[in-house]
Amino acid sequence: MKSAEIRQRFVKFFESKGHEIVPSASLVPYNDPSLLWINAGMAPLKKFFDGSEIPKNPRITNSQKCIRTNDIENVGKTARHHTMFEMLGNFSIGDYFKKEVIPWAWEFLTEELKFDKDRFYVTIHTEDDDAFEIWTNVVGIPADRICRTEEDNFWDIGEGPCGPCSEIFYDRNPEMGKDDVFHPDNHNGERYLEVWNLVFTQFNHNADGSYTELPKKNIDTGAGLERLCSLLQNGETNFDTDLFLPIIEETARLSGKQYHTDLNLDVAFKVIADHIRTVTFSVGDGALPSNEGRGYVIRRLLRRAVRYGKVLGIEKPFMYTLVKIVGDIMGEYYPEIVTKREFIERVIKAEEERFHVTLADGESLLADVLERVKGEGKNVLPGEEAFRLYDTYGFPIDLTEDICVEQGIEIDREGFEKALNEQRQRARAARKDVSTMSVQTELYDELDIRSNFVGYSEAATSAQVLAIISGGEIVEEAHEGDEIALFLSQTPFYAESGGQVADIGLIHVGEAAIVQVLDVQKAPNGYNLHKARVLSGTVNVLDEAEASIDYERRVAITRNHTATHLLHKALRQVLGEHVAQAGSLVGPDRLRFDFSHLSGMTAEEIADVERRVNEQIWQNEIVEINEMGIDDAKALGAMALFGEKYGDVVRVVKAGDYSIELCGGCHVRSTGEIGLFKIVSESSIAAGVRRVEAVTGKGAYEFVVERDRLLTDAAGKLKANVNDVPSRIDNLQNNIKELGKEIESLKGKLAAGEVKNLVEQIREVGGVPFLAAKLDGVDMDGLRAIAEDLKARLASGVVVLGAAQGTDKVNFVVAVTKDLNGKGIQAGKLVKEVAAVTGGGGGGRPDLAQAGGKDVSKLQEALDKAADLVAGMLV
Ligand code: ALA
Repeated sequence: MKSAEIRQRFVKFFESKGHEIVPSASLVPYNDPSLLWINAGMAPLKKFFDGSEIPKNPRITNSQKCIRTNDIENVGKTARHHTMFEMLGNFSIGDYFKKEVIPWAWEFLTEELKFDKDRFYVTIHTEDDDAFEIWTNVVGIPADRICRTEEDNFWDIGEGPCGPCSEIFYDRNPEMGKDDVFHPDNHNGERYLEVWNLVFTQFNHNADGSYTELPKKNIDTGAGLERLCSLLQNGETNFDTDLFLPIIEETARLSGKQYHTDLNLDVAFKVIADHIRTVTFSVGDGALPSNEGRGYVIRRLLRRAVRYGKVLGIEKPFMYTLVKIVGDIMGEYYPEIVTKREFIERVIKAEEERFHVTLADGESLLADVLERVKGEGKNVLPGEEAFRLYDTYGFPIDLTEDICVEQGIEIDREGFEKALNEQRQRARAARKDVSTMSVQTELYDELDIRSNFVGYSEAATSAQVLAIISGGEIVEEAHEGDEIALFLSQTPFYAESGGQVADIGLIHVGEAAIVQVLDVQKAPNGYNLHKARVLSGTVNVLDEAEASIDYERRVAITRNHTATHLLHKALRQVLGEHVAQAGSLVGPDRLRFDFSHLSGMTAEEIADVERRVNEQIWQNEIVEINEMGIDDAKALGAMALFGEKYGDVVRVVKAGDYSIELCGGCHVRSTGEIGLFKIVSESSIAAGVRRVEAVTGKGAYEFVVERDRLLTDAAGKLKANVNDVPSRIDNLQNNIKELGKEIESLKGKLAAGEVKNLVEQIREVGGVPFLAAKLDGVDMDGLRAIAEDLKARLASGVVVLGAAQGTDKVNFVVAVTKDLNGKGIQAGKLVKEVAAVTGGGGGGRPDLAQAGGKDVSKLQEALDKAADLVAGMLV
């Protein structure tokens, strides 16, 4: 059975049990700072598990791409370690529990996949008698096939929901006969293969470390697709399946080496096959190689693969050519790796090329270090040096080792490991301080209310106050000055979501009270919760009220929102299909759009994008908004966005035939209402993520007016017509250049005159031509130039120049012709002693030296002393 079929059968099986199939979320976790990567099927569903959002259907199933990087060094060396894998999962959010999930897992394995019943064993938590009862009495597994463990059967990721679990194992070698006592670790863990973990999330792990029962119990399961494949395809390892073999075959073709002929080569084949999947998928999801966080993981994996490529004799970039094969294998379920193939290839190729350069540089750097080590008569490379090469330059430690061995030098491995561990600990510490999930709150469960959002069509509505929350509690009334949150029976207020900011406005409670709405958020029950302040009077639950939003502000927001869609489309047209939204902010005064793209946009690209958006505005296209099934939306070509929730019915926003997006936000009725679109900035916010900020309507008008005013101002100052400003500036710049040249030449002439003057002041000291002169107003560079000039004119002689700079600084330069160096006169020594008179110091070469001092009033004294010093030095 092919991998695609197993995946499909899994989700379809659970669909038949009332589950909603959701697509795999991006590997890059949005809104979850506790995770570097999505690492389990439940990770993108945490918001449901902790109750901060309530799903439409409490039964969910998925095949989720996951990355785990805790054991990279083992990947390729074992049968089942991977950096990326697919987790098949079924989830219950406060719906079914153990007595459903255990028999279903059994049914799927034994009836759907037709595995032999007698080859399964299970583990349960020591105290989980319920699970034991279901496994033995409902499913009918003999009790001696069940092992109770404490440690391995409690799934706990720190603060948040957790619970006991039950793992299902498959016996790969029944011919070995039955073990006396079953334990998954028997036979070094080689015999029993874990295929599925069923987690019964029934406790909250509280912040204080205690555990309390959850009000709503959940189910979270995870089955490894690669493992199921290896069993169903009789693969010796996970790599010997249709998920990996085509990659290995292509690598074999590229290298001319064969798989399964040599154990060392096999490791290389497996490393490459594993890593190219991870890199392809993560780049496809918008992560890019860099020196930190996710980017560093990608970089490390690529480098590791390139080095294993060398083991196979591949000496040039090749990983990027495997992206296509990964797409062939998995693209049907994960279309993003096919649509973004070109971009992914480009990123990988550039990174590979860079690494080949790094390798060459690293080798020469290491050669220098080794030279030094040998020069010091040692034969050990310090651990920190090896770590520096590894960490700062990305030079792999085993390569360092190989080169050292060739030269008879040892590596201080202990020192290296120590430095490495310290760095790992720093990285771990940096990630630890964010808790993974918040604790469920029951506040909203107590409220039995319905609230209707009417804000797509109404700016004001009458409504009843359904609930008031103050200080984290449900209250009956609120008074002037109180900060509250409230629910209305219906509301025109949009809650912040999809990048669109919340509406603000007022709620009038008859004559009794005025409430100012400051913010609106979606509460866990899915209804709009108004954060507000009571401006006057008293508001009671069940009061009738009139709610109205700040309409003008909302209109400005809709302009920006529709413009954001047009911008998204235009960016994809101009820059390429790899452009993926990474975030957006739609406010009343501006819009911000973040997207994946490698390099900064050129002025031409910006102008092109801007023009395309404005063309759509001029054409005044109708903006059509319809609700439809997700498949119909896809068939229309709607762009699906990360973080958007896939319900059965989606809202599709279509601006003419130009842009189609799934979106829950507020939009103009036709594009002409946007008025004008103007990009105000384009910048980088992270490796491979660009940000465009833009304005529309009144904001764009104000922006243009302000620019115009600045230009008129500038023209005024140039006493020119606006049209002539650029040429006037060119003229001015040319003038400045000419003047600069003139100043340089005048300075030269002045210095020449000065030098001529000075030559006349030369006298003899101890038979040596000598000059000491004060040249105020000349800076250090000037002094040096003049001293050099004089020295060049003298066959033999000493020149001492001094100049005060301001009131508290003195500069000295001394020049000595070479012949006098032999007679005891060194410029460095002389300048030091001269400067000492003014409370300073300095030095330099024997023929030219400079120094600084402080006491300006001693300058003449210092110069006067120079002659005596020279006389004293002569030998
Ligand atoms: N979340 C569970 C796991 O990762 C299923 O094993």
